[in-house]
Amino acid sequence: MNGDKKLIDDTGTRLDGRKADELRKVTIKAGVLHRADGSCYLEWGGNKVIAAVYGPREAIPRHTQNPLRAIVNARYNMAAFSVDDRKRPGPDRRSREISKVTSEALEKVIITDYYPRASIDVNIEILNAEAGTRCAGLSAAGVALADAGIPLKDIPVSCAAGKIGSEEKDGSFLGGQIVLDLGKEEDNFGNADLPIAIAPRTNEILLLQMDGHLSFEEFEKALDFAIKGCHQVSKIQKEALINKYHASEEEEKK
Ligand code: CDP
Repeated sequence: MNGDKKLIDDTGTRLDGRKADELRKVTIKAGVLHRADGSCYLEWGGNKVIAAVYGPREAIPRHTQNPLRAIVNARYNMAAFSVDDRKRPGPDRRSREISKVTSEALEKVIITDYYPRASIDVNIEILNAEAGTRCAGLSAAGVALADAGIPLKDIPVSCAAGKIGSEEKDGSFLGGQIVLDLGKEEDNFGNADLPIAIAPRTNEILLLQMDGHLSFEEFEKALDFAIKGCHQVSKIQKEALINKYHASEEEEKK
């Protein structure tokens, strides 16, 4: 536990001053890389993420091709300098897991049967990590896919909710409160984390993971918080795409 400090005080205020259902600040810019087919830069609290999309292009090696639809390869990578202790470069168990669940989530909204034998590659680079990077990465990937003009049923978006409490000086544990979008200390010292991704038009769940324990009622509340968080981020995603096309229209007029 973090000394005597409580993760949430008696007035319902969290360590960074947020209320239980408040998101960290999210800013998104679409189309930041010229070499990629689509790209996005996203900041979410202290997280800084770049997503780049390549494709649809012929899937290589050929044995990976699906004759009926495109394959979706998301690759999540944390830069060595993204965390306090230098992270050993290259894939590890955690990044393989996040790449896998992200690929599966994106596959559900991409209309893959338009592109048999093709691959759609999504690179997610975490430049700075401060809890919730899988949600930040997946939300950035959603914008980069739309920016690449890949046919989508919806722009996928992701957000987490979790449970935090406070340990008293005598070691006893004081309840637990459901909060939206865990920050760094909340993630390290909280009790549970529930990252989800949805297709916001239908609320179809594209990803749901749970770390820690939640009762059924707590789970329902956390899911409700996370879905509402997703809708807030979805609005910012759409604004970023509109801004990009607005800017390119202005450019053309010149
Ligand atoms: O980032 P996310 O919450 O999706 O995944 P996590 O596995 O729950 O990681 C939580 C946080 O731990 C990350 O966002 C990083 O800030 C930190 N972390 C780290 O400091 N070093 C690592 N090798 C992995 C994660």
